Amino acid sequence: MKLTDALRGEHAVLYDLFAHLDEAIRTRDDGTHLRGAVAVLARLLVAHARIEEELLFPRLEPHLGRAGPLAVMRDEHSKIDQLLDAAGTETEVAALKELLSQLLQLARSHFSKEESVLFDMAERFIGADALTEMGAHWATARNVALGGQGCLATH
Ligand SMILES: [Fe+2]
Ligand SMILES: [Fe+2]
Repeated sequence: MKLTDALRGEHAVLYDLFAHLDEAIRTRDDGTHLRGAVAVLARLLVAHARIEEELLFPRLEPHLGRAGPLAVMRDEHSKIDQLLDAAGTETEVAALKELLSQLLQLARSHFSKEESVLFDMAERFIGADALTEMGAHWATARNVALGGQGCLATH
């Protein structure tokens, strides 16, 4: 499996969490519940961004340079981190909801740029074989077993 496929799959799971948070913003006024949801979001988003920064961005750098799309992606990761930190310490519910809304808007637009531009560039510049090898590193980092030779096949 290509690394870009794995990252798109992680986005899919995170979109579901974003939808849960949209609902919590609309329906919950309980700060403890909202802060719990922020803690889960922070853990998953930070781990996802770390995988991109460690496995993908360095391999794109020779093709794209440090400026341009990679600078934009890194800058958005750090803005997301700042919003997560601010949300993690905000005690007032209305302000926390406002921070969360900004965070979800930024994360969705960031993911959309990665899916429509960056991952496509990775597939063109890095190529399927190298991305598949990088997918194996992703699986190790994420503790996911990759099936080798069709172990469910009937004989
Ligand atoms: Fe990202
Ligand atoms: Fe991403």
